Amino acid sequence: MTMNHPNFGAMEPSRVIIFDTTLRDGEQSPGFSMNIDEKVRMAEALAALGVDVLEAGFPAASPGDFEAVNRIARETRGMVITGLARSSVNDITRAGEAIQPAERKRIHTFISTSPLHMKYKLRMEPQTVLEAVTSSVTLARKFTDDVEWSAEDGTRTDIEFLFRCVEAAIKAGATTINIPDTVGYAVPEDMVRIFSQVRENVPGADKIILSAHCHNDLGLGVANTLAAVRAGARQIECTINGIGERAGNAALEEIVMAIRTRPDANPFTHNIETTRILRTSKLLASITGFDVQPNKAIVGRNAFAHESGIHQDGMLKNAATYEIMTPESVGWQKTSLVMGKHSGRAAFRDKLNALGYGDVGDNALNDAFRRFKDLADRKKIVYDEDIVALVDDEVVRDHQVIKFVGLEVWAGSKAKPRAVLELEVDGVPHTADCQGDGPVDAAFNAIHAIFPHGAALLLFSVGAVTEGTDAQARCTVRLQEDGKMVDGQGADTDTIVAAVRAYVHALNKLITKRARTAPEALSA
Ligand code: KIV
Ligand code: ZN
Repeated sequence: MTMNHPNFGAMEPSRVIIFDTTLRDGEQSPGFSMNIDEKVRMAEALAALGVDVLEAGFPAASPGDFEAVNRIARETRGMVITGLARSSVNDITRAGEAIQPAERKRIHTFISTSPLHMKYKLRMEPQTVLEAVTSSVTLARKFTDDVEWSAEDGTRTDIEFLFRCVEAAIKAGATTINIPDTVGYAVPEDMVRIFSQVRENVPGADKIILSAHCHNDLGLGVANTLAAVRAGARQIECTINGIGERAGNAALEEIVMAIRTRPDANPFTHNIETTRILRTSKLLASITGFDVQPNKAIVGRNAFAHESGIHQDGMLKNAATYEIMTPESVGWQKTSLVMGKHSGRAAFRDKLNALGYGDVGDNALNDAFRRFKDLADRKKIVYDEDIVALVDDEVVRDHQVIKFVGLEVWAGSKAKPRAVLELEVDGVPHTADCQGDGPVDAAFNAIHAIFPHGAALLLFSVGAVTEGTDAQARCTVRLQEDGKMVDGQGADTDTIVAAVRAYVHALNKLITKRARTAPEALSA
């Protein structure tokens, strides 16, 4: 192979580039939207994880998306930062501007190539699509030497037409060619056939990197991705926890661990620091409010739990009997029991470092430490998961307009539930005393009394951070206003306090969104 990629040079033949699209394709799934600070935090975690290319967003989609890509391009180092663009001049120009400050940058432009998409979605003739491939890649190259071109719905594209499109993109200067399984329709044999045929039939295919981007509609996202790599793809597009449109994208953690655990079947290398997988997965879950299911491979709560007597017996004799990889290799800790009420600030900071929170600012650290002490007073055992929930809670709350101060509730089967809530709005203390159909309703009414707003409550859910009746509750609140949807999270041993924290977090996100579209609209 005589490839000399602008950002990766002459690559080792076995090296696979990990392209993470958690902040773009992942964020497109309903309810998974993140604000800019959360995206920057996630980007930093992905850089520490060892991701090679980060798709930071879709700059032409909204001013907020543009700003997120632009801030990540300015503030993160190491990764190639890319923004997605349709084949229009506006999209490509916005993407080019957004990634401009990055030390290593790429534009990712795409157009649909399948008969179905061209006829019904684009209403374009194949010849016009072909011309758009050339003009879009040519324009993107004016902003950066590293241009990725994608054939949307590539796996349902007529193979001869796919060859022509890929050839046009390479001739116009694309350095990565992505053939996505956009609707998760392919089976592994299709991926092998398509990638092998493109390599064999398209002139110049040996000088670019082929990329796989698989959706999971049939649960085959990871299998299809690995099949593409076996057939010559050297870039994998994936997301943390497999989040993404509909059934999601191929999960980064599953692909990486399949390569690491089965080098005989997958003789490839990557740069991922696998021991950081779990904390990255948990960070995403705490930002979006969606935990992975307990049996999720690699990062689910049960992924390394052994319940049956036969399995436990085998494990005690030799862990390899039922464990194909060690929990530690993906970041699970042997002992998750930590710290108590006598632990001091220095120990708390050490613990945060060990948990990957070395970069927490002083304000968030002080508030988190205060809450840790309070938690240690109320809860018999403080686990690592408790600390993670608490710190994430504080970090998302740093610099927010509305702050939770305190709550008292009266509930039960006899009296009408009542809540007395204290909030600070722009630094000014407010109190409200309200009743409701249950303590959560009373507390939410009190939020309305202090901060009147028109947002509709779409979802309220409660989960537990750890086990036991003294576990912290983690609540999610989804609000919608003027077509904008946001999720807020809150954690506390008191479920009603966690619910109020989640509601306040969601309101703060709405305020940020409002301020971005109308800077004067900062109060209710
Ligand atoms: O699934 C898909 O086809 C995409 C493209 C924009 C790459 O996400
Ligand atoms: Zn996709």
